[in-house]
Amino acid sequence: MRISMVVAVAENGIIGADNGLPWRLKGDMKHFRATTMGKPIIAGRTTFNSFGKPLPGRTNIVLSRSEAPVPDGVVLVHSLEDALAAAAGEGAEEACIVGGAQVYAQAMAYAHILHFTRVHMDADGDTAFPDFDEDAWTQVSAERHEAGEGDNCAYTILRLDRKGPPPKSI
Ligand SMILES: NC(=O)c1ccc[n+]([C@@H]2O[C@H](COP(=O)([O-])OP(=O)(O)OC[C@H]3O[C@@H](n4cnc5c(N)ncnc54)[C@H](OP(=O)(O)O)[C@@H]3O)[C@@H](O)[C@H]2O)c1
Repeated sequence: MRISMVVAVAENGIIGADNGLPWRLKGDMKHFRATTMGKPIIAGRTTFNSFGKPLPGRTNIVLSRSEAPVPDGVVLVHSLEDALAAAAGEGAEEACIVGGAQVYAQAMAYAHILHFTRVHMDADGDTAFPDFDEDAWTQVSAERHEAGEGDNCAYTILRLDRKGPPPKSI
């Protein structure tokens, strides 16, 4: 199973504000949906709550240290390793880590692929993507999109593949 991270990051590293996204990018939401559809997604409890409801067509695996109730069909786990095992148990070819910052930081060492959208603005926010070694990744594709209807700004969808095996595996 390959492990990917799906993230949108402003030029200044910001990914979140007030438990939500600091921008509106309809085009990138479509990309997120297409990239994750049919695959297990792994989210921290804060990010999962920000969705408002489980994302359809994907097994929603949620990380929390508590036993807070989750909607029917959502898989609640208490460690990243249990989350990855739950995704692997579905026979998935790719598991998608969908944030937020705490979960990206822990999952980085396991990731083979970054579906990384560069949002061409400096955003106001309280949550940043963790520092990572860009030299460890090869850019496989880059597609720039100018701001369309429903987009606050232009953005570039990058795919980065790790040059070697990830430092950690499940
Ligand atoms: N721009 C993007 O692409 C993007 C994507 C995703 C999220 N975001 C943004 O990022 C922000 C949220 O990020 P965040 O870092 O604050 O929170 P988060 O990573 O979404 O969730 C943190 C929570 O996950 C649980 N958790 C984390 N690690 C765990 C572990 N090892 N074992 C068990 N539970 C664990 C804990 O839940 P409990 O407190 O319940 O124990 C923790 O409080 C929001 O603003 C969101 O909109 C942006």
